[in-house]
Amino acid sequence: MPLNTLEEIATYIVSEGKGILAADESNPTCGKRFDSIGVNSTEENRRDYREMLFRSGGMKGNIGGVILFDETIRQNAKDGTSLVDIISKQGALPGIKVDKGLQPLEGSPEESLTQGLDGLEERCDEYSKLGAKFTKWRAVIRIGDDIPSDQCIQENMQALADYAKIVQQSRMVPIVEPEVLMEGNHSIEDCFKATSRCLKILFECLNNNQVNIRGTILKPNMVTSGSLADIQAPIDEVANQTLKCLQTNVPSELAGITFLSGGQSDINSTAHLDAMNKIGGFDWKLSFSYGRALQQAALKTWLGKKENEQAAQEALSHRALMNRNASLGQWSSDQEKKIF
Ligand code: 13P
Repeated sequence: MPLNTLEEIATYIVSEGKGILAADESNPTCGKRFDSIGVNSTEENRRDYREMLFRSGGMKGNIGGVILFDETIRQNAKDGTSLVDIISKQGALPGIKVDKGLQPLEGSPEESLTQGLDGLEERCDEYSKLGAKFTKWRAVIRIGDDIPSDQCIQENMQALADYAKIVQQSRMVPIVEPEVLMEGNHSIEDCFKATSRCLKILFECLNNNQVNIRGTILKPNMVTSGSLADIQAPIDEVANQTLKCLQTNVPSELAGITFLSGGQSDINSTAHLDAMNKIGGFDWKLSFSYGRALQQAALKTWLGKKENEQAAQEALSHRALMNRNASLGQWSSDQEKKIF
């Protein structure tokens, strides 16, 4: 399949149930993950861990794209092969996180505005030469007393649209990620409202910027109860509310929707995606771009030890396959009997 246009790249990433492995943790975030297993976050350890993930057998056929961090797109495996080449040989496209993280929002400091538009064009040209075919930018929206504010939503969605325009000019596919955080004791209705406000404004901003929607991927949160809420909405309610929110606010010509996992358990991330695909009735591919929900089991199995590498690769392969099945609406909990 030729992958020359933005539409072809975006369509390939989510073809045949494939999804995205988000492995773009910044060094501080990777440090937190490694702390949880007692491993030092050195450049070499980060390389070894990610090399192990990218060489997993289950990457093939299940993963259409991998999001990398700046350090990783430049790294070589132990045998000298670039990590970008290892990813490509697995049939996945290399992508890159291009935002520069969060700063407190002026006038509403408990909220944030994602940084990184300065110099973005030059960074994109370099990443494209290093082999990146797509990019990611994450906006973070928090639910709380009187927030999210209109200002926070407007400024973050405009930044996403400005980013997407620049990235497409560099011939790469932008993933736009407006993440409404799960953290908090809010209800699923509060999440529905905040997510709807973000998506409505986001697509207005993308249209105003004349971003090619067919060559864009949306990476949203699912509509869930807050992680600290007493009442947790069941699987079918999360699936129905998420679909209702997307169908109201997202144009049908979008190439694909790949959810973030956002702190959901591995099984919930898979079960929710499967439930939506079983309901069906939409034009976009509905797939995954999971970080924690794909990597957690592998990380806990690995523990930084060479002798655990194969089992850790099997853990990643298993979750990748389960999520592919869910993207096709063909997952069931008894496929999880193989526990790692
Ligand atoms: P999680 O799936 O762990 O939320 O990570 C996805 C991601 O890339 C967040 O930006």
